[in-house]
Amino acid sequence: MKGVGAARPVLKWAGGKSKLVESICALLPKKVDTYFEPFVGGAAVFFALAKQKRFRRAVLSDRNPELVNVYQALQSDVDGVITALRRLRYDEESYYCLRDKKPRTAVQRAARTIYLNKTGYNGLYRVNRSGQFNVPFGRHTNPTICDEPNLRLVAECLKGVTLVDNDFESICQRAQAGDAVYLDPPYMPMSDTAYFTSYDKHPFGLEEHQRLAQVFSDLADRKVLAVLSNSDTPETQTLYRGWSIKRLQVPRAINSRASNRGPVSELLVLNRRARGARIGGAVLES
Ligand SMILES: C[S@@+](CC[C@H](N)C(=O)[O-])C[C@H]1O[C@@H](n2cnc3c(N)ncnc32)[C@H](O)[C@@H]1O
Repeated sequence: MKGVGAARPVLKWAGGKSKLVESICALLPKKVDTYFEPFVGGAAVFFALAKQKRFRRAVLSDRNPELVNVYQALQSDVDGVITALRRLRYDEESYYCLRDKKPRTAVQRAARTIYLNKTGYNGLYRVNRSGQFNVPFGRHTNPTICDEPNLRLVAECLKGVTLVDNDFESICQRAQAGDAVYLDPPYMPMSDTAYFTSYDKHPFGLEEHQRLAQVFSDLADRKVLAVLSNSDTPETQTLYRGWSIKRLQVPRAINSRASNRGPVSELLVLNRRARGARIGGAVLES
């Protein structure tokens, strides 16, 4: 992989892992045959592992087809995406005009998604019940809509990578002994009122978390190492009881309520049984 050194996430994504990358990478093996990231989002962990040349092959997937299309278009026609982005203007009218469009080509769709992510409110991805992107215009100071050097590094990084738009379970079934998987699902809510399920039109509720915990355990049976991120709640503690757990204190996004400021605890779970587990020199809590 030539020139993957400094590739950074193209998209700002809710739950992006840029600040936790080191802790996550420390739990993954030094050399991985095929690396799987089935909830890829902004792909911060993939870019960090690519920089360190930690895997031979990679499979990135997500159930958001517009997100996966961005990576596919950058992989197959980065010049086309750059040209399309250069034509777009940053003002409110242009934003709403493009938000209402349904481009037909993969390249135009990718440019639209990148543009809306850079210029919409807080980089959010949110759709209404009929699947229409509905994030309002964001007031940014001179946003970089087309970061050409980084787009080219990302395209280089994605060469040969398998990109799939699918549910996590079918992707995990492809993994074999010697492979590794990083799972970063939409988090279990910290409270009943905090259910954040607006990544796409399918909510990721308790049943989905139970299905994921089963997949996590099945991977261990097949000798596939898996690391999973989630919030630290009574439900996640129950779902992952018995596995090796590392707790991280993570700064919270700015909150207007003083009681909701300050760090919050998150779980990093490794699918190795708790006692005696040691991977990549990381200190495991249990
Ligand atoms: C927390 S985000 C991932 C953040 C990402 N790791 C990053 O660094 O930006 C969760 C992702 O899971 C995806 N998702 C939700 N349900 C899914 C499912 N059933 N299968 C696969 N992906 C899913 C969402 O589209 C979203 O991109």
